[in-house]
Amino acid sequence: MSDLVIAIDGPAGSGKSTVARTVAELLGWSFLDTGAMYRAVTCEAIFRGIEVHDAVAVAGVADDVSLTTLPRVTVNGRDVEDEIRGDEINVAVSVVAANPEVRASMVARQREFAAAQPLGTVVEGRDITTVVFPHASIKVFLTASLEERARRRGDEGEDSVARRDEADSTRAVSPLRQADDALVLDTTGRDVEDVAQEIVQWLKHNLSR
Ligand code: DC
Repeated sequence: MSDLVIAIDGPAGSGKSTVARTVAELLGWSFLDTGAMYRAVTCEAIFRGIEVHDAVAVAGVADDVSLTTLPRVTVNGRDVEDEIRGDEINVAVSVVAANPEVRASMVARQREFAAAQPLGTVVEGRDITTVVFPHASIKVFLTASLEERARRRGDEGEDSVARRDEADSTRAVSPLRQADDALVLDTTGRDVEDVAQEIVQWLKHNLSR
């Protein structure tokens, strides 16, 4: 088992998932999309008719669900890959992600996942560099202009993306913020492969020090 982790954070549409997936492919490492985990819990709470502001009930869902993110996102065996990207979840997920008990449960699962991988794990989210893996092999913070981020999010629109960033960056628990020792990359107008290669080079540089 390996304790090698590349931690990647950034706002919605900054390119985290595509870049992280590409880095994982280049290295033959595992990949973990932690946003999909918060989305899947949100989906399951709504499926059970639970109001997302009911913090205790939602924390109960987070504790007892079985979750997978690859090859498809599933909750208790139910495929929610498409459903988790819908408008209802885009709005509700920020409430669920601000719930400290939900976060504690997801963070524990994320650490367990990484600890069980044979080579290394590329993990992306909002608190990965600051809370989940503060001692990661390398930390990366991706940014991009709001216009480009909204374009990458397709139908979601600039207002919705900006609203979610505001909620994620100003919440009391584990807000999105740049770690002091993170490599900051602006992906606006940049090719995924090119950004991914830069991260791999940064990893090699750091591991050889
Ligand atoms: O990356 P994404 O858009 O799929 O993330 C969905 C939501 O989950 C987003 O509003 C922020 C939240 N999130 C979080 O709070 N912490 C993470 N590690 C990952 C995502």
